[in-house]
Amino acid sequence: MARVYNSRKRILVTGGAGFLGSHLIDRLLSDGHEVLCVDNLFTGTKRNIEHLHTNPRFEFLRHDVTPYLSLKPSTAPRAQNPWRLRNPRSSSAGASKMY
Ligand SMILES: NC(=O)c1ccc[n+]([C@@H]2O[C@H](COP(=O)([O-])OP(=O)(O)OC[C@H]3O[C@@H](n4cnc5c(N)ncnc54)[C@H](O)[C@@H]3O)[C@@H](O)[C@H]2O)c1
Repeated sequence: MARVYNSRKRILVTGGAGFLGSHLIDRLLSDGHEVLCVDNLFTGTKRNIEHLHTNPRFEFLRHDVTPYLSLKPSTAPRAQNPWRLRNPRSSSAGASKMY
């Protein structure tokens, strides 16, 4: 008998507000995955991802990825707080929606 795997994943895309990253996110969401986009908007723009802000499987965090960044899936209900951010440069307890 064939094994059945749950192929839905939580995926972090750095630079997701850029040209390549935003198209990658579109593809991942259309494949049914959950996506956390981390971008400091240095060259990217919110325009590239604004069509995603109503998607419950999409989350945006404005953040520079060069310093230490630790993310853990939250134990809280997914709709309330899908991700928990642990970062010495931020006291924020969770990644927040951009809108
Ligand atoms: N319409 C088009 O054909 C089109 C449009 C734009 C770009 N391009 C091409 O695409 C290529 C560039 O695309 P890309 O996606 O690689 O570049 P990009 O600049 O669009 O994306 C990089 C992303 O990484 C982010 N970023 C950079 N440093 C970061 C950091 N320390 N922490 C967090 N985020 C950070 C930027 O803010 C940006 O959103 C080039 O070849 C360009 O010519 C084509």
